[in-house]
Amino acid sequence: PDFWAVIPAAGVGRRMGADRPKQYLALAGRTVLEHTLEIFIRSPRITGLAVAIGGEDEYYRELTIRSDKPLLVVHGGEERCHSVLNALRALKHQAADDDWVLVHDAARPCLSDEDLTRLLDTLRDDPVGGLLAAPVADTLKRADAEGRVAQTVDRAGLWRAFTPQMFRYAMLVEAMESARQQGLLVTDEASAMELAGHAPRLVEGSPANLKITSPADLALAEFFLGRGQV
Ligand code: CTP
Ligand code: MG
Repeated sequence: PDFWAVIPAAGVGRRMGADRPKQYLALAGRTVLEHTLEIFIRSPRITGLAVAIGGEDEYYRELTIRSDKPLLVVHGGEERCHSVLNALRALKHQAADDDWVLVHDAARPCLSDEDLTRLLDTLRDDPVGGLLAAPVADTLKRADAEGRVAQTVDRAGLWRAFTPQMFRYAMLVEAMESARQQGLLVTDEASAMELAGHAPRLVEGSPANLKITSPADLALAEFFLGRGQV
């Protein structure tokens, strides 16, 4: 089977509060999105990419992207799950049912080649697929309405979900379409698979694979890129 990358890049970056969507901010000499696309373009294991951009996007066409593989550009939707589904639908004629799809946030430019390779190698024979993730490190508190601690939550067995999230094309499309029909706005692909009754596998990855969300994350990402991830 082939491996396809789906990159949702149609968000507006509200929490970043910059003058443009965060995937178009400068990071170590390029934009965030150029770094992210480059990870998959340079990987010999990836067949092609589909990227979802905003309907009013005026920045994508300014990027410098040299790809020797097919790179489809589609319009995203209101929520991340709609953007992913649009990109998946656009792959209909290239992806076989049992091909793998790796959905990866445009806002995660620090994914290392090592983590990507480990994900591919760990899941290549898996019946379901799975995602990069890391065990929660902090002690967790549940808050009451006044902002006081109602309870300390046992963190044993709790993981932070990252991307890429890797599933078979037909199974993922079915799960995402089904979540959509139920009116559920899933925040990751694993959630859609869970709703469909599957149990995605957690593959431990580096916390350096952060999702750039607020301004401090840009500085962190620059640091991680500069030292060659890890
Ligand atoms: N995304 C998307 N389509 C949407 C919303 C988000 O493709 N309708 C993408 C973002 O571009 C990002 C990824 O999904 O690469 C993760 O989303 P998030 O970090 O929440 O990005 P934004 O939605 O842009 O940020 P914010 O929630 O702060 O507005
Ligand atoms: Mg968002």
